[in-house]
Amino acid sequence: MNILVTGGAGYVGSHCLRALLDRGHRVVVTDDLSNGHRTAVDSRAQFIQTGVANIARISSVIEVHEVEAVMHFAGFLEVGESVKEPLKYYENNVSTSCLLLQAMQRAGIRRMVFSSTAAVYGSPPTCPITEDMPLNPINPYGRTKLAVEWAMRDCAKAWGLGGIALRYFNAAGAARDGTIGEDHDPETHLIPIVLQVAQGKREQVAVFGTDYPTPDGTCIRDYIHVEDLADAHVRAIEACEPGWFRAFNVGTGTGTSVLQIIEAARKVTDHAIPVVLSERREGDPAELLADPTQLMQELEWKPRHTDIHKIVDSAWCWHRNHPQGFSGKRPILSETGPS
Ligand code: UFG
Repeated sequence: MNILVTGGAGYVGSHCLRALLDRGHRVVVTDDLSNGHRTAVDSRAQFIQTGVANIARISSVIEVHEVEAVMHFAGFLEVGESVKEPLKYYENNVSTSCLLLQAMQRAGIRRMVFSSTAAVYGSPPTCPITEDMPLNPINPYGRTKLAVEWAMRDCAKAWGLGGIALRYFNAAGAARDGTIGEDHDPETHLIPIVLQVAQGKREQVAVFGTDYPTPDGTCIRDYIHVEDLADAHVRAIEACEPGWFRAFNVGTGTGTSVLQIIEAARKVTDHAIPVVLSERREGDPAELLADPTQLMQELEWKPRHTDIHKIVDSAWCWHRNHPQGFSGKRPILSETGPS
């Protein structure tokens, strides 16, 4: 298929792009590079620097490249920022997605995979989380993602969009050849922060809350390797059917606590990784764990990289080879790839 990937220079987008190309699809990537990195975009893809808000440009890309399907990653993703600047999120995540859907409707494009999030569930009453559990996002970020899911559901009914929303749990790790990985500025996610300590860029990692009702008192999350996430996207775009909207959880169903992540990173990096026990971070649920049964049964997806040490190791390989992230030297093929 000819596929448009919006936000294809970002962390998850760039890994999905590569999986689509490996599968033989032709891909055109758009990204305004406000958070993405040009060097993260696989050279086999066409790249056009534009945001989705420039819908005239997007429509022209759709026409010129005879786009048949869209994978939509472009959007903001900082929970804390979304609380402080909600309209920035409603504009960039919701309004531009509506423009994109309109452009797709005009062009007769019926296939769409949307980058959604476990944040649509808020603080779930029980874990693991199934897709039919209450949708109660507790921050603007989660609400904007849910709003787009609703728009897609309505478009499926109204004009036959075939849409799939993938609700990511905690995307983690990096391409196993060490060439692309996670590079956010500022970095707020646990694994890259822990690895920055091992690199000597930070002195310690703060553990946000040690009095949660979990076995070691720290939050439990479901870390999903970014290449398994990419595989889910490829299956989803190929499974889209006109008039059908579905949302799937993408996680492993296995939980890892904050302290377990730090312990895994100590083993992988051979660094002591000092910690400072801190207050809870606002809005963090104690446990988020996916029940990925529907994705496994309906799209025959199966996570392949579930060992947390290997997930952390793949991230470490990327960080070690790219101490300045994408702004440093060009990605090199790792000779010391993850085990
Ligand atoms: N954490 C720390 N110290 C840090 C950073 C994080 O203890 O310096 C903890 C957090 O409190 C949390 C866990 O590590 O308990 C994971 O935090 P991340 O920031 O790495 O990830 P989140 O679980 O907060 O966020 C992820 C996605 C969001 C999505 C959310 C769904 O990155 O996009 O899951 O709830 F919204």
